[in-house]
Amino acid sequence: MSINSNSSTLVIPKVSAVPRHVAIIMDGNGRWATKRFMPRVAGHSQGLDAVRKIVEECARQGVEYLTLFAFSSENWRRPPEEVGFLMKLFLKTMRGEISRLSENNIRLKMIGDLTRFDKAIQEMAEFSQEKTANGKGLTLTIAANYGGRWDVLQAMQKAISANPNLAPDDIREELLTPYLSMAFAPEPDLFIRTGGEQRISNYLLWQLAYTELYFTDTLWPDFDATELQKAFTWYSQRERRFGRTSEQLTTSHTLPLSDAV
Ligand code: FPP
Repeated sequence: MSINSNSSTLVIPKVSAVPRHVAIIMDGNGRWATKRFMPRVAGHSQGLDAVRKIVEECARQGVEYLTLFAFSSENWRRPPEEVGFLMKLFLKTMRGEISRLSENNIRLKMIGDLTRFDKAIQEMAEFSQEKTANGKGLTLTIAANYGGRWDVLQAMQKAISANPNLAPDDIREELLTPYLSMAFAPEPDLFIRTGGEQRISNYLLWQLAYTELYFTDTLWPDFDATELQKAFTWYSQRERRFGRTSEQLTTSHTLPLSDAV
C-alpha cells in the first residue's frame, strides 16, 4: 500500500503502564469550595495542593512530561477578583516552589501568550524556566493564557515569517510543528479532565489528535495519587491503533504508519 502523506503520527509509540506524557485539565475547584460553603478561590488554593501531589507522583512513577492547564485564554472572563487571586497564586507559587522544583530535577516550561500577564509574572516565568532548564527528570509544563487555536495560529504566523515565499503545497505538518508551543515534547499519551465535563475546551487541539481521553467526575482538589493510578490503569488497557487494525498491532508496535489507512 502506498504512503498516505496526510497521515499524522508516523510511528506507534510503545504502550506502557505509565504514559510518557500526561496532559490535564484541572476542573472543579470552584464546585469543591462551593460544596463546603467556602469562597470559590479557596478551591484554587486546595487545587494547588493537588498539583503538588500529582507532580510528585508523576515524577515518582517516571512520567516524562506533565502538562497542566492552569489558565485558559477564556478564563479572563471570570470575575476580576477571581482572576486577580489566580494571578497572585501563580506568582506566589513560582516564587515559593522554584527551588524545590530545581532540587527535584524538574524542568519547568510555560506555554501560552504570557504577554497579557503582569510584568512580575512574565519575569518570574522567565526566571523559573531558566533556573530549571537543566532538569533531567520530569518536564512540568504550565499552560497559561493558552488556547489550542491560538497555538496553531501563532505557529502558522511564525512559519510564514520564517519562510516568506511559501507555496500552498509547502504547508505541511513538518513545517508547522516546530513552531507549536509544545514542540519540545512528544504528543500527550493520556489526557485527563477532572470535574465531570467531557470537553477538550481549546486545550492542545493539535497535539491531542491521537491521545487517549480520560474523564472523571472527581473534582480537581480531590484528585490524588489513587485517582491518578486509576487513570493510568485505564490507559494501560487501551489499545492504541493510530488508524490500524487490531491484527496489525499484534505484529509490531513500531510499524511505520505508511502501511496503514
Ligand atoms: C478550574 O476549576 C481551575 C482553574 C481555572 C484554575 C486552576 C488553578 C489551580 C489548580 C491552582 C494553581 C495551579 C498552578 C499550576 C500554579 P473551576 O474554577 O473552573 O471549577 P468549577 O468548574 O467547579 O467552577
